Amino acid sequence: MLARLVAAGLERREARWLTEEFGTSGDALENAMTRRLAGEPLQYVLGHWPFRGLDLDVDRRALIPRPETEELVGHAIDALAQSNHRAPVVLDLGCGTGAIGLSILAELTERGVSATLIALDESPDALALCRQNALKHRLYAVSFVCGSWYEGLDDSLAGRVELIVANPPYVGELERTTLDPVLDFEPEGALVARDAEGVAGFADLAEVIAGAPTWLAPGGFLVVEHGEGQREAVRREAFGAGLRDVVDYDDLAGKPRVLVARRP
Ligand SMILES: C[S@@+](CC[C@H](N)C(=O)[O-])C[C@H]1O[C@@H](n2cnc3c(N)ncnc32)[C@H](O)[C@@H]1O
Repeated sequence: MLARLVAAGLERREARWLTEEFGTSGDALENAMTRRLAGEPLQYVLGHWPFRGLDLDVDRRALIPRPETEELVGHAIDALAQSNHRAPVVLDLGCGTGAIGLSILAELTERGVSATLIALDESPDALALCRQNALKHRLYAVSFVCGSWYEGLDDSLAGRVELIVANPPYVGELERTTLDPVLDFEPEGALVARDAEGVAGFADLAEVIAGAPTWLAPGGFLVVEHGEGQREAVRREAFGAGLRDVVDYDDLAGKPRVLVARRP
C-alpha cells in the first residue's frame, strides 16, 4: 500500500502517516491522498497536529500552529513564573486553534496553577475550533470572545490580566505575494496585516501592543510574536505604550521573533 501512495507522488514518511491515520485502504485514505497531492498541508489532511503537549484539532478554520510559536509559549510561562501568581487571568488575542492559550493553561495546571483563559478571535470559525480543542483536552477554565483585538472584553477585566499573549497577523501584503502557495490553504485574515507606521504588516501588532496597558494588571506581561523585520517597531511601540522590561528574543532559527514587555 505504501508503495502505491509513494508511486502516486507522496513522500514515504507522509504515506506512512496517512495509512496510520486512515487505514490501508478505503475512501478516507483515497480522499486524504487526493487532498495531499493537491497541495493541501499535511496537518489539515490529518486533521490534528501536536503543539507542545497538546494534540490539537487543526483544519481550514484556523492557522496551523507553527514551531516558533511553541517558543513563545515557553517565554510566556517563564514570564508568568516571575510574578508567582496562583490564579492568573490569561488573555490569548487571535487564539486561532487555541494553541498558545490552551497550552499555557494545560502547562500551568500541571504546575498546580489554576489559571483562567480568555480566548479571543474575530473569526467565529477559529473560535469554534478553539472551543473544540478546549473540550478535547478537558480545559474548562476558558471563556470565548468574538471581537477585534480588545473589543468585546468585559470592562471589569481592565487592569486585571496577568498575561496577554498574541500571535497576530504580521505578514505585509507585498510579502504575502512572495510566500509559499501552500499558505493559500490558510485563512487570509490569519496571516496578512496592513502596513502601519511605515512598517510592512505592522497594523495588528501596533494595535495589540498599544492596547495592552489598559488590560494588564500592574506587573503583568505582554508576550507577542512578530516578523523578522519588525523588532525595532515592536520595541518602539512597547516603550511608547509605557511598557517596561522590554526584551525581544530570537527564535531557534536565529530570527527576531518574540517580544516580552511588562506593565510597571
Ligand atoms: C497568526 S494567526 C495565530 C493563531 C494562533 N494564535 C496561533 O498562534 O497559531 C492570527 C489570528 O488572529 C486572528 N485575527 C486577525 N485579525 C484579528 C482581529 N482584528 N481581532 C482579533 N483576532 C484577529 C485570526 O483570525 C487568527 O486566528
